[in-house]
Amino acid sequence: MAIAIYPGSFDPITLGHLDIIDRSSRLFEKVIVAVLSNQNKQPLFSVEKRVEQIARSTNKLSNVEVDSFSGLTVDYAKLRNAEFLIRGLRVLSDFEKELQMAHTNKTLWQGIETVFLATSTEYSFLSSSVVKEIARFGGAIDHLVPKNVAEDLEKLYKK
Ligand code: PNS
Repeated sequence: MAIAIYPGSFDPITLGHLDIIDRSSRLFEKVIVAVLSNQNKQPLFSVEKRVEQIARSTNKLSNVEVDSFSGLTVDYAKLRNAEFLIRGLRVLSDFEKELQMAHTNKTLWQGIETVFLATSTEYSFLSSSVVKEIARFGGAIDHLVPKNVAEDLEKLYKK
């Protein structure tokens, strides 16, 4: 079975991520969206909350699972019998970091293949950081994130 991991911070998930998940779910038999639990970063949402946000946004995609992991992505991929890593490419500047990551992962485990999907043009400007900045200043984010995430952000910044 062709299993793919889509790893990331997803703090929070955006419509750009969702577009990649949706398209990946047609390419692979199973897609595991894996939220990195990174002790060094100060996320806006807890790992548990991010997993819940993604699960709610993807509940109509029957071959998509949401999980969290810590440590190396390739170790998690091995654990889940996944041979593919999915990463979205928005603009040229993403490419350098992403290619370095793909090569690094390959040196860590020869069995992994990174598959890059070009982000849909309508989301090529979008990032979780942009969403957080707009939300912090009370701007409209409904066109950028799933409905449940927009509600979570509104609640957070209304306090
Ligand atoms: O959404 P992000 O923050 O761009 O995702 C980055 C992520 C989680 C894919 C990357 O940082 C990662 O794989 N971290 C786990 C540690 C690891 O495996 N490092 C080696 C590859 S460079």
